[in-house]
Amino acid sequence: MTLIDGKKIADDIKREIAAEVEQMVAEGKRRPHLAAILVGHDGGSETYVAHKVKACETCGFTSTLLRYEEDVTEEDLLAAIDRLNRDEDVDGFIVQLPLPRHISEQRIIEAIDYRKDVDGFHPINVGRMSIGLPCFLSATPAGIIELLRRYDIPTRGSRCAVLGRSNIVGKPVATLMMQKANPGNATVTVLHSASKNLKEICAEADIIIAALGNPGFVTADMVKPGAVIIDVGTTRVEDSTKKSGFRLRGDVDFENVAEKCSFITPVPGGVGPMTIVSLMRNTLLAARHEIYK
Ligand code: GUN
Repeated sequence: MTLIDGKKIADDIKREIAAEVEQMVAEGKRRPHLAAILVGHDGGSETYVAHKVKACETCGFTSTLLRYEEDVTEEDLLAAIDRLNRDEDVDGFIVQLPLPRHISEQRIIEAIDYRKDVDGFHPINVGRMSIGLPCFLSATPAGIIELLRRYDIPTRGSRCAVLGRSNIVGKPVATLMMQKANPGNATVTVLHSASKNLKEICAEADIIIAALGNPGFVTADMVKPGAVIIDVGTTRVEDSTKKSGFRLRGDVDFENVAEKCSFITPVPGGVGPMTIVSLMRNTLLAARHEIYK
């Protein structure tokens, strides 16, 4: 079994990006600039955004964090988005999700200029991805594809089971895995809460991508010997031995599944670090106007 070291690959990619940024600066261009909007004080969102700010520093980007309290109005957020859309100094920006219930996430996502939508959540980017046109790919699916690429994991003609159908992971990763590309070209089945024979379908899969948010859901009996396991879950579970009082747990019963498979991503240190570097890559592409002129 090979442990897929997402942290190491992410560090390699950040170094590659930092070198490209220094090249840009040497040519007299300004540094890529990523802005993030964070609403409220959700622990998970705070952590993600802190990692994004840190990754910007490592890559040599400029970063701006705009914070709003939980009771911010949708109108005020839309106004902030409008300012970022028009700010020529900002190449790309994200609005950290989830948002408080009184705000429509869809309205917020659609207000972002798709040319600055480095999360790849805008319907224009999602639509372009689904028909294979250049676009900002959403970060977690792009990170998963990059891990498969860097570990030379064969995907062509393989059976891939995607667990979960969220807009930010399940649906886009299924789209990318089925696309005529390498990595890709797989036969994809998307499984969700209404799926019948879920266990049997998983047990026939060459690749399982678990993105349900249900800790330990994928057990050893659901895994074919030699399968590739990508664990996207990051649920916080209580752990009194940790200073924070919690640890992150994936969707896979790692202890028992690891010994059966050929490749597996750990949690933490697997997919998570790759998500952040995909966002950095998208911001670099935005700064260079490589996708949209
Ligand atoms: N919440 C969980 N994942 C993400 C992500 O990739 N981007 C944003 N904006 N919010 C998230």
